[in-house]
Formats: sequence, structure tokens, C-alpha cells
Amino acid sequence: MNTKVVKMNEDKMNINAIEEAAIIIKGGGLVVFPTETVYGLGANALDDKAVSKIFEAKGRPQDNPLIIHVADFNIKEYIKELPFIATKLMEEFWPGPITFILNKSDIVPLTTSAGLNTIGIRMPSNKIARELILKSGVPIAAPSANISGRPSPTEVERCIEDLSGKVEYILGGEGSNIGLESTILDCTVEPPCILRPGAITLEMLKEVKEDIYIDPAVMKMPSKELKPKAPGMKYRHYAPKAPLKIIRGDLKKTIAKVNEIVQNCIDKEKTVGIIATEETKSCYNNGIVLSLGSRKNLDVIAKNLFECLRAIDDKNVDLILSESFDELGIGIAIMNRLKKSAGFDILDV
Ligand code: TXA
Ligand code: MG
Repeated sequence: MNTKVVKMNEDKMNINAIEEAAIIIKGGGLVVFPTETVYGLGANALDDKAVSKIFEAKGRPQDNPLIIHVADFNIKEYIKELPFIATKLMEEFWPGPITFILNKSDIVPLTTSAGLNTIGIRMPSNKIARELILKSGVPIAAPSANISGRPSPTEVERCIEDLSGKVEYILGGEGSNIGLESTILDCTVEPPCILRPGAITLEMLKEVKEDIYIDPAVMKMPSKELKPKAPGMKYRHYAPKAPLKIIRGDLKKTIAKVNEIVQNCIDKEKTVGIIATEETKSCYNNGIVLSLGSRKNLDVIAKNLFECLRAIDDKNVDLILSESFDELGIGIAIMNRLKKSAGFDILDV
């Protein structure tokens, strides 16, 4: 399949290209588009056959449901009921990086929800995404635009790398502002439960409703007793090709431990990539060091995380070591993605 790629900015949208892409969506094809979280791989959410193509292109497990993306608040058609708290939180945080799980109506095919009676709905804030949804005239089902298991793409080049030849159209924008996928909040249960942490943090949600909690399976290694409620959270995920180990604890001790492991690897003629920060990057004696940004701004760390994982992979290292971050605010989402990338391989120092 020939993939057409058109790049643009949110401030300078190429409306012709968006219209062409919308025609593809209406015709049952696949379009990659930018969002503020990560790039999405979209198809008409109400078209069974179109949605199946998403699973095929990504190599996505059939039991992993998709999020549908809308451009306005008219979502009644797609759901059975809208709890008061969901309305309130949507008014507060939409358009933006939060997905609400609600009971779905019959017009949303079971292929989209992977057989579940619930559906995730999100209104992205990215203008290109919203224009595409509006022009398509249908809600767009879109997982992250990566091959299943790989880190989500925050740059259009990564989508091209993973999906060129597998989709009809790639709409390129700038790098994703947020860089981590949306917060997922299950509103079919009371109190509502965060199934995936993101840029809309627990603290921010608690300001609107005190009684909200995080699925306990989110930060721990999934097990028989502890199964995450979002099907997608159970897979090894966001995984770079080389094994990743997180070094957790006091920064000085972290640096010493990383230097020790790197030296051991050098002795065995192995190369190591180090995921560091502005504050620490000059403290490592050896290895390929990439900085996520300053520890003073966790939003920037979040924005750079997936791209950093992919960039370090491109260096073909044998092992990746990463510093860790406090699990507060967006730090919860950063650590959730890092732990999953590492397959929960954490060394406490
Ligand atoms: O920010 C985002 O949400 C991005 C952009 C493209 O919008 N999309 C995204 O989609 O991250 P995806 O497919 O990579 O992740 C969707 C997650 C999966 O973990 C899936 O299991 C969960 O959402 N999910 C979807 N529908 C669900 C449902 N009805 N119940 C529980 N979890 C659900
Ligand atoms: Mg994904």
C-alpha cells in the first residue's frame, strides 16, 4: 500500500490534506494523525471492518479495546448513560488528555470495544485531530500509532518508521506536547477509578471529586491476583529492544550504581545506554547518555520519555539503565510507563 505523508503545523493546517484524510476515514481506511498525547492510528469507530484493519496494522491483540475520539460533547449516541461526575470532569478537562470509560451503546461495534460493553471516549485538544474528526463526520477509533509493544510515537518520523506501507495516510504535526497517553478514568464504577495514569493527574481529579482512586494493579507487576482493569495495561509495553533496568533511590547512590554496572558491561564488551537528566548527565563516566530534561520540570521529562527510549534503541545498545522519578503528580504516569518498559526490572539502591 502507498502511504501519503503530509506534514503541517497546528497553526498552519493544510485543510486540503485533512479533507483527503477524512475521505479515507469515511471510506473505511486508516489515517495516522497527531494528538497532544501521542500520535494515533485512526479508523471509523462505527465501521467494524475499518476497525479490524487497525488491529491488523499494529499487530494488536484482539482483546485490547480502542479509544474513540470525538470533536464535540455530543456523545450520547455512543453511550448508554452519562454519570453526573463524568459530565463534570469532561467540562473541566475536555478537550484534553483524559479518556472516560462508559457503558457503550449498540451502535459502537464490539470490534472497537474488543468485546466489552464499555467504551473509552476522548476529545483531543490537538487542532489537526479535531479537524480530521469533524471532517470525517464520525468518531475515530485510535490506538497509539506504533507497532504493538513498541514505545508510543510522539514524532511523525516514528509513525512512518512503524506504519509506512500499512496505512493510507499519515498527517504529520509537531512533536506531541504531552508525550504520554491519556489518563483513563473508569466512570462505570463508583468511586471512579484511574486505569492508566496520565497528564490529568490524580491530584487534579481529586480537586473536582475527592473520592477517586488508582487501580492498584497499575504500578505493580501484573499477576494472577492483581490484574489491571484496562486490558492493554497487562502487556509488556512501550518496550525498547534492549532490556531496560530502572535504578531507584537516592540520586548519588543511583549514579554510583549505574557507573558500576556500566563498568562491568564494558569489561564484557557490552554497550549501555543511560537515561539520565540534566542534573546528572555529566556524572556518568561511560556509556551512551541521553537526558530526559531537568528534574525540575517533570512535564518535559514526560514529553521526552518515549522518544528517548526509541532514540537509545537506535544506538543498538545491549542494556539500558534509567534513573527513576518520584511518584507524585505526572511522576506517577512517568514511572508507570518506565516500569512497563522495564518489565518491572527495578534495582533499589
Ligand atoms: O492518549 C491516548 O489515549 C492515545 C491517543 C492516540 O489518543 N491513545 C491510546 O490508545 O493510548 P491505546 O489503544 O494505545 O491505549 C488504549 C488503552 C489500552 O490500555 C486499552 O486496554 C484501554 O485503553 N481501554 C480502551 N477501552 C477500554 C475499556 N472499555 N475498558 C478498559 N480499558 C480500556
Ligand atoms: Mg498504545
